[in-house]
Amino acid sequence: MPHRDEALIKIENLHYAYPRRDAVLKEINFSLYAGERVVINGDNGAGKTTLLHLIVGLKKAKQGDIIALGEVCKTEKQFNKLRAKVGLLFQDPDDQLFCPTVLEDVMFGPLNLGFSKQQAIEKSLATLNSLGLQGFESRITHQLSGGEKRMVTLASVLVMEPDVLMLDEPTNALDEKAKQRLLHVLQALPQAMIIISHDKVFTEQLVTRNLYLQNGHLVASQQKRIAVA
Ligand SMILES: Nc1ncnc2c1ncn2[C@@H]1O[C@H](COP(=O)(O)OP(=O)(O)OP(=O)(O)O)[C@@H](O)[C@H]1O
Ligand SMILES: [Mg+2]
Repeated sequence: MPHRDEALIKIENLHYAYPRRDAVLKEINFSLYAGERVVINGDNGAGKTTLLHLIVGLKKAKQGDIIALGEVCKTEKQFNKLRAKVGLLFQDPDDQLFCPTVLEDVMFGPLNLGFSKQQAIEKSLATLNSLGLQGFESRITHQLSGGEKRMVTLASVLVMEPDVLMLDEPTNALDEKAKQRLLHVLQALPQAMIIISHDKVFTEQLVTRNLYLQNGHLVASQQKRIAVA
C-alpha cells in the first residue's frame, strides 16, 4: 500500500503527440491525492481524453512517467495492475460495452479479478441495483438507450471497487433524473476521482479542485480565466 500522503496517481513531465501531429500534451505534471475530486475542463480537442488514456496505458507516451500507487508504470504488466485499481469510464459507452447482455458486461471485471461466477453475479446485481438498474441484467447491451448504456458502463467500473475513478464526460446522454442519481452515487463514494465534464452545474457539486487543459498544458482553472480576460 502507498503511504497515506503519497499521490495515488502522479504524472511527471508527460509529453504526447499523435503521429504527424503537433504535441497535444506538453510537460504535464499532476498529482491526485486521496479524497480529491479533480475536475478537468478544456475545449473540444484539448487532449482530455488522451490524458486519461495515457494514465491507464491505452496509449503510451515516449516521454514522461505515470506513477500509480507508488509504482512507475511502463510495461503492459504494470499497466494491467494499474487498470485493476484505476477505473476508467470511457467517453463513448460503445467503446466499453462488449458483452451481449448487461449482466455479462458488468460481471466481466470481477471474473477477471478472480471472483467466482456466483460472487461476480452477486456483486454485479448489487452494483446495478445501487444505480437504479434493477431488472436490466438480461437486457441486450447494444439495444440500450444512450443514457442506459452510460449507467451500465458506470456499473461495470464501480463493480471493480477501484481506488481511483476516472470519468470521461459521465453525464453525457443522461436525463436530469439519471444525472441526479449519478451525482448522489458519486457524492457518496470515498474514492479519489478525475472528472472530465463540461457540465458546470454537475461538477460544482462534486469538485475539490478545478484544472484546465489549454495549449497542451494542465493549469489551475483560475489561470484560464485570467488568460481570457
Ligand atoms: N488517434 C488519433 N490520431 C490522431 N489525432 C488524434 C487521435 N485521437 C485524437 N486525436 C486528436 O487529438 C486531439 C485531442 O483529442 P482528445 O480526444 O484527447 O480531446 P478531448 O479534449 O477529449 O476533446 P472532447 O472535449 O471533444 O472530448 C484532437 O485534436 C483529436 O483530433
Ligand atoms: Mg474527450
